[in-house]
Amino acid sequence: MPAVLFRSPNDSAEAWRQSLSERIPGVDFRAYPEIGDPADIGFALVWKVPPGFLKQFPNLKAICSLGQGVDHIFADPELPRGPHIIRLVDPWMGRAMAEWVLLQVLRFHRQGMEYEELQRRREWKPLPAPETSTRRVGILGLGALGAEAATTVAALGFDVAGWSRTRKSIPNVTSYAGPEEFDAFLARTDILCGLLPLTPETTDLMDASLFARLPKGAFVVNSGRGGQLVEDDLLAALDSGHIAGASLDVFRTEPLPAGHPFWTHPKVQVWPHVSAQTNADSGADQVAENIRRVFAGEKPINEVDPDRQY
Ligand code: OXD
Repeated sequence: MPAVLFRSPNDSAEAWRQSLSERIPGVDFRAYPEIGDPADIGFALVWKVPPGFLKQFPNLKAICSLGQGVDHIFADPELPRGPHIIRLVDPWMGRAMAEWVLLQVLRFHRQGMEYEELQRRREWKPLPAPETSTRRVGILGLGALGAEAATTVAALGFDVAGWSRTRKSIPNVTSYAGPEEFDAFLARTDILCGLLPLTPETTDLMDASLFARLPKGAFVVNSGRGGQLVEDDLLAALDSGHIAGASLDVFRTEPLPAGHPFWTHPKVQVWPHVSAQTNADSGADQVAENIRRVFAGEKPINEVDPDRQY
């Protein structure tokens, strides 16, 4: 059986070696830099490897992301043509993301920002109770993660809509589709949650013009990718008062540089890219199944279309 290469700056090689060995006894798992003969490698399990790294394996049949996103793979200008590109779709991560989105929605909905400020001022001041059924949550991106987040938020009684390239049918979630319905989606959204993959089409999507199309006082949540959000435009929209608050888990530069204005902005909550962390235990089910399929010459599950890049 060909070897499985592992390389990631974030994930534990030992945890993945163990979880894959339990599912594929005898798997030839090679953690970078101990990769041996590059010609042995048939499957690469990677996260943010340096550009040009993957072209050295002549018998590579598949490249699997150690996350849901595959933008880090397509960012390689020397990415070999031919191997299947696979993203990780793990129900555990879907649940984690839905929890995180729900947490942000509830914090903004239940005036968390205002009460945090009142506490800083030692002020005991009940505010009028908000109404759940009229709070309009908009999920940008209704893929595996967005659909689960939308369903989870809708289950609490929020007015939930989602926007995606093609129309979706999700109970209790209004589907807006395509560029022609984007403005209507934004105009009805009080809490916007970005859950899109990063592609050339979604880069810089959340800019001044998008913020201006949200109702005054809207909130912005992003756990898609930092490259989708024009950070200076968000700061300007927060400072003008048009956007009331933001919760961000992803940034153009990660880790967020120490001098970045988001760290100290009173209306921004910073999270260190943890909304849905990769889990070597639950994630290994799909990876092991794909190793089996690819080495048997079968089509892997959750393969990414290289033209769409998601
Ligand atoms: C992912 C991520 O792509 O964690 O899964 O960002």
